Amino acid sequence: MKGILLAGGSATRLYPATQVISKQLLPVGDKPMVYYPLSVLLQAGIREVLVISTPRDLPLYQELLGNGSQFGMKLSYMEQPKPEGLAQAFILGEAFLAGEPCCLILGDNVFYGQGLAEEMQKATLLTKGGVVFGYRVSDPERYGVVEFNKAGKVVSIEEKPDKPKSHFAIVGIYFFDGGVANVAKKVKPSARGELEITEVQNHYLRQGTLRVHLLERGVAWLDTGTYESWLDASNFIMTLQKRQGLQVGCLEEIAFEKGYISAEQVHAQGQKIGKTAYGKYLIELGSE
Ligand code: TTP
Repeated sequence: MKGILLAGGSATRLYPATQVISKQLLPVGDKPMVYYPLSVLLQAGIREVLVISTPRDLPLYQELLGNGSQFGMKLSYMEQPKPEGLAQAFILGEAFLAGEPCCLILGDNVFYGQGLAEEMQKATLLTKGGVVFGYRVSDPERYGVVEFNKAGKVVSIEEKPDKPKSHFAIVGIYFFDGGVANVAKKVKPSARGELEITEVQNHYLRQGTLRVHLLERGVAWLDTGTYESWLDASNFIMTLQKRQGLQVGCLEEIAFEKGYISAEQVHAQGQKIGKTAYGKYLIELGSE
């Protein structure tokens, strides 16, 4: 399975901080935001990833992440000329996907929790249809929202509804089969001028091939679109890291544990940034 990391958008809710730089390059805790969604892909064993961002920001991602070999990944890059919607990622990525199933993850979504990696690994086995994840939130109107019927079956997914029909939002990780580019091509722009990912999900739902898994309450899903949520995510990560002495979203550590990179590579990465706690962590890990 291939991955697409979508890290463009306009981030107007974080102005002026994001007036000249991509939101997903801002730090969450002690590392760039984009590390967290990349770590989710890596934990799921998805190593071949297309990074999509704006023409302005894409060179910065290339400089930061390179070809990905330091994380045991193979990264390639593509511009999204304008933020015309999440579903456009599948159209832009069509040649990259070459008809294979894929996982799209949003560059500003931070996940943490036991069992998450296992859920994701299971989803990578998908060959037909789609798998998405619902998560209970207090402010569902900001997201795609799941509507259930009386029998608890999912009947629709509504994009940013004024009157949400449940508290379950769809999180920013979506698994679809090899036909997703063709599905996305049929989506018409919404009233706000975007190719909505909810349309893609509803297509698979109508076909009867969309599975919606509800994430357990022990999983944290944080988005970072507003100052408040961004600060919450930063504090959450720093609190965990400080308390446990373990890093969250450490790409080198995950790659090492999975056997994608060697202890020497971890050590060398640490030395590049040795002044930081992150760097020291890598040096220690690479020396064990
Ligand atoms: P949104 O939350 O829709 O938008 P945003 O956060 O970029 O902008 P604003 O603050 O102005 O509301 O985007 C969700 C994620 O998807 C975010 O990581 C940006 C990314 N994105 C793209 O890469 N391309 C797109 O066309 C859109 C709509 C979003």
